[in-house]
Amino acid sequence: MARNQRDYFYYKAKNEGYRSRAAYKLQHINTKHTVIQSGASVVDLGAAPGGWLQMAKELSGGRVVGVDLQKIKPIEDVQTIKGDITLDATLKKIEEILGEHGADAVICDAAPNLTGNWALDHGRSIDLCESALAMAKGLLTPGGNFVVKVFQGDMFKEFLDKVKENFVYVRSFTPKASRKQSAEIYVIGKKFITSTIKKGEEFDVDILERGDEGDGIARIDDFVVFVKNAGVGQHVRVRITDIKPNFAFADIIG
Ligand SMILES: C[S@@+](CC[C@H](N)C(=O)[O-])C[C@H]1O[C@@H](n2cnc3c(N)ncnc32)[C@H](O)[C@@H]1O
Repeated sequence: MARNQRDYFYYKAKNEGYRSRAAYKLQHINTKHTVIQSGASVVDLGAAPGGWLQMAKELSGGRVVGVDLQKIKPIEDVQTIKGDITLDATLKKIEEILGEHGADAVICDAAPNLTGNWALDHGRSIDLCESALAMAKGLLTPGGNFVVKVFQGDMFKEFLDKVKENFVYVRSFTPKASRKQSAEIYVIGKKFITSTIKKGEEFDVDILERGDEGDGIARIDDFVVFVKNAGVGQHVRVRITDIKPNFAFADIIG
């Protein structure tokens, strides 16, 4: 690293044995948003040289898998793959390693080679983010969490909206260890939604059971929907009002 770029976090990482100052970004993200819980299985996309992998291992103590175009020097108890996160073949390799359980968190600090051309760098960053989101959708368990680095620009909002379609809670966050002059921001998606149904959609449903709180229970594509003020045996038209990772709420509209 150029001498003039060395700073507090650079020296802190050196002293504390982390491979990059970026480790403190993940630590700060986790302190604020708890994306990695104890025991979580974590997939880190764009993981070289491995600061996030070291921190992810510390935070979870569970299975940690890292992927990068570059070879990652071995880290104890962490599995690494040399691969391109934009390719399906890489997703398959990660799936094989994880087995049936999938990932509880998918984190991505991948960055394109910066050219200095803002629009080009932003576009390439968004492409990587889209790949990371596709990977997250393929790998996450219901309710799982997602973190991705984005270089800001005019396509940011469109990407944020895509994350919002797939997670219950979405925030953007700039950790302390991000450089002041950097355009980077981290998007955090918590509680991965596995359903294909969306808020505002309408369906005709049969009320099959009564829930503990008194709502009627219907199923849409095997997804449980709690319908307010509905009784067992009713056939009603409903509008989805809220979606959670494993169920949704709806109101009767006719
Ligand atoms: C900022 S570094 C990641 C630093 C890492 N989080 C750490 O703490 O050590 C960004 C990484 O993204 C990787 N990368 C960029 N495009 C990629 C792609 N298509 N597939 C896999 N890795 C990629 C680069 O090789 C680079 O190592």
